[in-house]
Amino acid sequence: MKTPYYVTTPIYYVNGAPHIGHAYTSVAADVMARFKRLDGYDVFFLTGTDEHGQKVEKAARDAGLDPQAFTDQVSADFKAMADAMDISYDDYIRTTEPRHKLSTAELWRRIDKAGDLYLGHYEGWYAVRDEAFYDESELTKKPDGSFVAPSGAPVEWVREPSYFFRLSAFQDRLLQLYEKNPDFIAPTSRRNEVISFVKGGLMDLSISRTTFNWGIPVPDAPGHVMYVWLDALTNYVTGCGFPDPNAPRWKYWPADVHFVGKDIIRFHAVYWPAFLMSAGLPLPRRITSNGWWVVDGEKMSKSLGNVIEPRKLVETFGLDQIRYFLMREKPFGADGSISHQAIISRMNVELANDLGNLAQRSLSMIARNCGGALPPTGPRTEDDTALLDGATALPDLVRVNMERQTFHDALEEVWRVVRAANGYIDRQAPWALNKTDKVRMGHVLRVLADTVRVVATLLQPVMPGSMAKMLDQLGVPADARTIAALATPLSDGTPLPAPQGVFPRYVEPAA
Ligand code: ME8
Ligand code: MG
Repeated sequence: MKTPYYVTTPIYYVNGAPHIGHAYTSVAADVMARFKRLDGYDVFFLTGTDEHGQKVEKAARDAGLDPQAFTDQVSADFKAMADAMDISYDDYIRTTEPRHKLSTAELWRRIDKAGDLYLGHYEGWYAVRDEAFYDESELTKKPDGSFVAPSGAPVEWVREPSYFFRLSAFQDRLLQLYEKNPDFIAPTSRRNEVISFVKGGLMDLSISRTTFNWGIPVPDAPGHVMYVWLDALTNYVTGCGFPDPNAPRWKYWPADVHFVGKDIIRFHAVYWPAFLMSAGLPLPRRITSNGWWVVDGEKMSKSLGNVIEPRKLVETFGLDQIRYFLMREKPFGADGSISHQAIISRMNVELANDLGNLAQRSLSMIARNCGGALPPTGPRTEDDTALLDGATALPDLVRVNMERQTFHDALEEVWRVVRAANGYIDRQAPWALNKTDKVRMGHVLRVLADTVRVVATLLQPVMPGSMAKMLDQLGVPADARTIAALATPLSDGTPLPAPQGVFPRYVEPAA
């Protein structure tokens, strides 16, 4: 039986159109999900939209629509974006669905039963843009006397009756959790940030709101809707069929990894485990957070007009090119800059030249000089062995980096082999052997085909469409495209289809 593996993306607010930042976290989670499937796991991959709260209610009002009609529209657009990015989600959750309302109400009841809720009055700062409460000590005063949150979001003073969650009671348990599970929060910089936040002391958390009503009603408390973050975080168990202990998907809980942006680490690494501890549910194994994409060095924002629409990029450069760029250009946890020039450079140098040419040169020689069939393996020279050993070692190297979400390093490992194969083809010069030693030429081309097979197999999670084409051209049967299948050599003489370039060079359209 396959081991279950559960991976999630954040559920995105439906207050505006999806942009490249949303696409990024989803692509990263998708690469993880696809890699685990490739590595033999029974994967459940959940994504979706976060549809309640003041921010979404306001966006609906601004659009002149009823909140449900508005969220229906924007959620559908996020789903279309996920499909356009080839996100292989198994389920798409919306927090306005009945199954989620049920699940959230049940989580609330369990927290209540545990004695961790009390009714009080909230008075303090709130940032609608972040849907977050802030302590005055966290705010910065602007020259005009107004305050802003660390995120730059404006804050407003809120006074309202509210239920509180006894977060303060969880400080020690949370610190123990981080201590005992060094991999619970990644990267380390974020882990340290969370630990120092929790060590600084936790205040009880306001978890219901009474000044608007676009939210899930608090059970038996008319006038109260749940704080949108309690509602949103619960999606991760809703997706597994909570609260039904016999739900077929319950086997996936706890999540193996929650993918989030660095802006929402506190909600996932502090509030979420505390809610789960209170409710007596198992805790997720890891929260991994990505850094920020900035555009030509500037923060993306609607007011600056530099928001990047992922589907436009895909139209211009191609889907796998963009997926590759996003995973390759910067370390996952770090901030990085996105620009057309940087995309073109990755595309032309690494995809078109390094990998595309390697495959095309090898396959077209096989097509022309080996009767279009996979040549047999021959006795190995030292040079053959060096290249093939590198390819054989690759799955483990990629796996280690995938587990840490160091995607750019995983890709660097793959490219080490790609570059080695390009060196090999130049040294072995099969085009020259074609005139002097056809048998050896066949052996050389087979070494290359075997190497490209490993590379293409391992790159499937990042570039599913292009690698499917490459594996087709290598004659790899559909059921032999997993990591485990790499142990079985391809059959000598497998007929290969006519090769076609997989990665065209990007040529700037004439101005
Ligand atoms: O926070 N660079 O939703 P959200 C990289 N609904 N990633 C970015 C980014 C950028 N410039 N901009 C956004 C919410 N992201 C909540 C989540 S989960 C239970 C609830 C990504 O629509 C990043 O992953 O504001 C960030 O955390 C997420 O989008 C925020 O999306
Ligand atoms: Mg946000």
